[in-house]
Amino acid sequence: MNRKFLAGAAVLGALALVVTGCSSSSGGDGGASGDSGDGTVTVGFAQTGSESGWRSANTESMKEAFSAENGFDLIFNAADNDPAAQIAAVRDFINQGVDAIVIAPIVEDGWDDVLQEASDAGIPVVLEDRTVTSPEDLFASWVGLDFKKEGTTAGEWAAENFGDTPTKMVVLEGTTGSAPANDRAEGFDAAIKGTSIEKIDSQTGDFTRDGGKTVMEGFLQKYGLDGIDLLYAHNDDMALGAIEAIEAAGGVPGEDIKIISIDAVKDGMQALVDGKINYIVECNPLLGELAAGLVTDVLDGKDVEKKVYVEDQSFTQEQAAEVIDSRAY
Ligand code: AHR
Repeated sequence: MNRKFLAGAAVLGALALVVTGCSSSSGGDGGASGDSGDGTVTVGFAQTGSESGWRSANTESMKEAFSAENGFDLIFNAADNDPAAQIAAVRDFINQGVDAIVIAPIVEDGWDDVLQEASDAGIPVVLEDRTVTSPEDLFASWVGLDFKKEGTTAGEWAAENFGDTPTKMVVLEGTTGSAPANDRAEGFDAAIKGTSIEKIDSQTGDFTRDGGKTVMEGFLQKYGLDGIDLLYAHNDDMALGAIEAIEAAGGVPGEDIKIISIDAVKDGMQALVDGKINYIVECNPLLGELAAGLVTDVLDGKDVEKKVYVEDQSFTQEQAAEVIDSRAY
């Protein structure tokens, strides 16, 4: 099917709880409606995998929004955190001739060729959650969170609370090469610059609970409980794994080692309320409706924003206790 998807101002209607970036055009040519002929829009969704509680909530949100009830036939693929498998899944969607493709890119690099192939086939691509380093004309739009700002917010809280006292910090990084790992590190590091916080080690735990636990066990073996004052985890799941490691080593998470993490999923928020985590910056996973709205608008030939940012909040223990029962994820 030929279709044309245009560039310009945002059309997101009631779902626009967001701020937006600059707009531009995407590949594809010709002009037509965005369905397969029977009113159903076939969308291939290349998810990263199922590495975290955040990811489960994101997958659920996407499946709900791209439902048959809403006029979609969703072909779902979870790549188990393997970038090559994710690119192969996108190529498969192109070969199947889907109407549109949505990708949550595992890593930022390596997307140019397959995005060009989608563009050549006239299939619009909407990115959700993570970003890519490819030229912006290779995708129609992106919806997600400002990961650098999340890192900055976490770092500012660390600087405010520990910046005046010599503080030895370890970091559990997200998946190497992923946008959130890169940006959350950059934002945090800039915010603690010039303070008394010293990063003594930093390793990837791949955004998983097991990864966080294993890497934290290594940190504890290397530096001892007394040698670490602060942990910055790029997501709640790794922080939760680290909590298990700290407790197994006889320590009290949140006291012996202060913990800052990102996501604000249920389990993370509970650990914050329980005092095992000290501060959480939210990363909202409920991107399904916005992504579906973008796909629909693009296929209808409407103008869309190139970047759609969803707002995040952050929580101390007291703030978490106030909201935990009313949160959707
Ligand atoms: O890209 C968003 C990140 O991916 C979330 O913070 C993390 O939990 C997930 O795995």
